[in-house]
Amino acid sequence: MAETVPIPEPPGLPLIGNLGEFTSSPLNDLMRLADKYGEIFRVRFGSRPMVYVTSNELVNEVCNEKKFHKSLQSAIRIIREGVHDGLFTAHDDEPNWGKAHRVLTPAFGPLSIRGMFDEMHDISTQLCMKFARHGPQSPIHVSDNFTRLALDTLALCAMDFRFNSFYHEEMHPFVLAMGDFLTEAGRRQRRPAFAPNFLYRAANEKFYSDIAILRRTADEVIVNRKNNPSDRKDLLNAMLNNTDPTTGEKLSDENITDQLITFLIAGHETTSGLLSFAFYHLLKNPSAYQKVQQEIDQVIGRERIEVQHVSKLSYTASVLRETLRLSSGIPAFTVEAYEDTFLAGKYLVRKGEPVTVLLAKAHLDPVVYGEDALEFKPERMSEENFERLNKEFPNCWKPFGNGRRACIGRPFAWQEALLCMAMLFQNFNFTLADSSYKLTIQQTLTIKPKDFYIRASLRHDMI
Ligand code: HEM
Repeated sequence: MAETVPIPEPPGLPLIGNLGEFTSSPLNDLMRLADKYGEIFRVRFGSRPMVYVTSNELVNEVCNEKKFHKSLQSAIRIIREGVHDGLFTAHDDEPNWGKAHRVLTPAFGPLSIRGMFDEMHDISTQLCMKFARHGPQSPIHVSDNFTRLALDTLALCAMDFRFNSFYHEEMHPFVLAMGDFLTEAGRRQRRPAFAPNFLYRAANEKFYSDIAILRRTADEVIVNRKNNPSDRKDLLNAMLNNTDPTTGEKLSDENITDQLITFLIAGHETTSGLLSFAFYHLLKNPSAYQKVQQEIDQVIGRERIEVQHVSKLSYTASVLRETLRLSSGIPAFTVEAYEDTFLAGKYLVRKGEPVTVLLAKAHLDPVVYGEDALEFKPERMSEENFERLNKEFPNCWKPFGNGRRACIGRPFAWQEALLCMAMLFQNFNFTLADSSYKLTIQQTLTIKPKDFYIRASLRHDMI
């Protein structure tokens, strides 16, 4: 029998536990705690405990799906109030998860994603046109524009719906409701359990009215498609028409509404964060910036970018992988053990106790990435090195989550991000709007660079 070593935890107070540790952004505070306590620590949000693991050795153990499974004891539990047993927020053993996963997996397959290329191109062109209209002097708010891009791309490709975010200053009411819903979900997660509800009456009312807006809009999209059937090969048609091969059943309308909102939530801030951080890292690393532009000039030149170009952008892909290592848009994910389990043979985590993989720290493990782990070096993420690292240190790069609950939208995000990078670097030169910009993080459920502005000047007539 192993000797148990207590999991370190900061001293807490009755009722509030360690809530006093959370004074800046939750991620900054957790990184500080990780620096202090090391590869594992426990934090108590009021009476709710949460264990954090930060080394590759421990991450590798909790990614073992025979012992651990996805946990909803995080902000996901709160998002579930809006989208029930949609893919992202379903419990592992809920029938609708298996059903939707089987129905939707082919719709995210390589052929289907290639089929979405032209619509992705359409929205990326709108972004390029907006950058061109700005002219070389106006500062461009990076994450705002990439959020518009990611939302519009997803809505068009998944359900043939146009938010037209590049044609209005104000975002669509659906988008505003979604942003507020997600921010409030993060806040609710940190509310002490003993806090009386009446203190939050206005916030609660707004939360539920935002959910109503999200559901009403998604319902309208479904009714519209039912009234105007089409043979588009998109996610909405896959959900309306395909039957689950195991049960022979179709998804219910309510579940399709859950999934549509889920895709918009799961797919917009994440892809927007990836592109925003990629720009930040490239503008701070001129030699990587030049290599990206050279590769794009070599592979595509002055032609219109086509789908077959995308897989040839190997350096740009390394840039995206390195960006996700240093700046994972979803900086953590949570699992729990099926049974009481010893981590590293000595730290006891109880059955059902939530354990969060703190990617923002685990992706910096010097055992895997060396003493220069903090530096942005796309070369370490070349295809060859990436394969070697994953063999030598399984589960060392997890920005898309784990196992069967990993991101279903990964190929979608990958094609979209590569295409958008290629079009932007083909057409523009970029500079920081403020050369002394220092990275700070804006955190809702995902993270993005805060107040990050660039300038874009056309290299030639737009292609
Ligand atoms: C799940 C990251 C883009 C849809 C996840 C998870 C992560 C993740 C970490 C697992 C969360 C957990 O374990 O709790 C990302 C990143 C993206 C991205 C970094 C972009 C760079 C997308 C896109 C879509 C999408 C574009 C939709 C088209 C989903 C869904 C799940 C998921 C539905 C839940 C899967 C399941 O549990 O069956 N994503 N995601 N994601 N993602 Fe993504």
